Amino acid sequence: MTLAGKKILLGITGSIAAYKAPEIARLLMSGGAQVRVMMTRSAQNFITPLTLQTLTGNPVATDLFSLTQESEIGHIRLADTSDAILVAPASANFIAKVAMGLADDLPSTVLLAARCPVALAPAMNVHMYQNPTVVENLARLRARGYVIVEPEAGDLACGYQGVGRLPQPEELVETAKKLVTRQDLTNERVLVTAGPTQEPIDPVRFISNRSSGKMGFALARAAWIRGASVRLVSGPSHEWAPRGVERFDARTASEMLDLTARNFPWCTVLIMAAAVADFRPARPAAHKLKKRAQRFNLELEPIPDELPRLAEKKGERLMVGFAAETEELEQNALKKLTQKKLDLIVGNDVTQPDAGFGTDTNRVIIASRNGESHRYPLMTKEEVAHTILDWVVQMRGGGLSSGGRTANSIS
Ligand code: PMT
Repeated sequence: MTLAGKKILLGITGSIAAYKAPEIARLLMSGGAQVRVMMTRSAQNFITPLTLQTLTGNPVATDLFSLTQESEIGHIRLADTSDAILVAPASANFIAKVAMGLADDLPSTVLLAARCPVALAPAMNVHMYQNPTVVENLARLRARGYVIVEPEAGDLACGYQGVGRLPQPEELVETAKKLVTRQDLTNERVLVTAGPTQEPIDPVRFISNRSSGKMGFALARAAWIRGASVRLVSGPSHEWAPRGVERFDARTASEMLDLTARNFPWCTVLIMAAAVADFRPARPAAHKLKKRAQRFNLELEPIPDELPRLAEKKGERLMVGFAAETEELEQNALKKLTQKKLDLIVGNDVTQPDAGFGTDTNRVIIASRNGESHRYPLMTKEEVAHTILDWVVQMRGGGLSSGGRTANSIS
């Protein structure tokens, strides 16, 4: 877990979106972070410190001049002992103060004293957000190395429609992870495939598989967190990716393979976690097939495998394939590594109840073309994704980066 043991300071300022802050705090904590909260006076008009204190189990810092607060959690100590600071929501007033270096309350003073990475998530009325002063202040903060999480477009609390909504708590938590994670993939453009494909039988029916997209989306998020530019080609899935990940939606295998081939020249690393159909109905019906009493045969035709064809044009690219197996995991995975001319293969035994399709966890074997292979214990798909990316970094000559993941050699 990239947040495990990290001290995240959550700053809350005066915006109606402050009501989302408890959920952000909860998600940070469930990711393993130690969360402390600081609030401006205006934020306390929307939500009480008691809510955040009860949730996080830590005192909430609100007052620069309180004798008790200063001796317990002084503003310099808050700044010095945080691994990252996330201000969500960040009001126009707060952004202006930070841009000008003003320190007239506790949160703005902490930001002035902070040396750790800081992200600000503006949330306000669309016209305020587009006001040249706010635009200029944000540009100034970006230039100084602050991460600005762009607000979303949609219905605003003030009744307007437009850009100004605080992004979903999940996305803000991914941003916090990015702040505390080594950016070891900044030179890579990672193309990930995810999810199932659907092969039409007629306009209302299709053949598909049990892939949820969880493994592929976890890879896309992990690569983004580690600084890569990421494109994701996905079959139908309910999973989500941060807006920094460029997404291409496919339905059928040929759509997915076509989008993959089109994005292939762009990428430096291709990771194919999608469960692409191997067969499709040879002649999908143009109209809905009528119910009938007799048996009938559905003729299937094979779908050509794209990986070996892409491998011919691979150049310096790294290609990572998956093997979803129900027997002889190791032998079959190694066979696919060679047949598909891959650099890495990730084998998963999809008969296990806690691995493969639809689960939040996976058990994998990873093998490289250099003859190294490891069998890993049960991990979350997020951990599996980082482990695969560690192999990518290692194969690029960067050594194992995030460490701490146990590997039992099977070679
Ligand atoms: O999505 P989840 O619910 O999280 O489940 C994750 C997963 C089980 C789908 C994933 O971990 C996984 O194993 N993905 C690969 C599934 C698969 O199709 O394996 P395969 O052994 O049939 O194919 C091997 C490789 O060839 C894969 O990288 C596949 O993307 C690629 N392929 C397959 C068929 C095809 N026509 N073209 C391809 O390029």
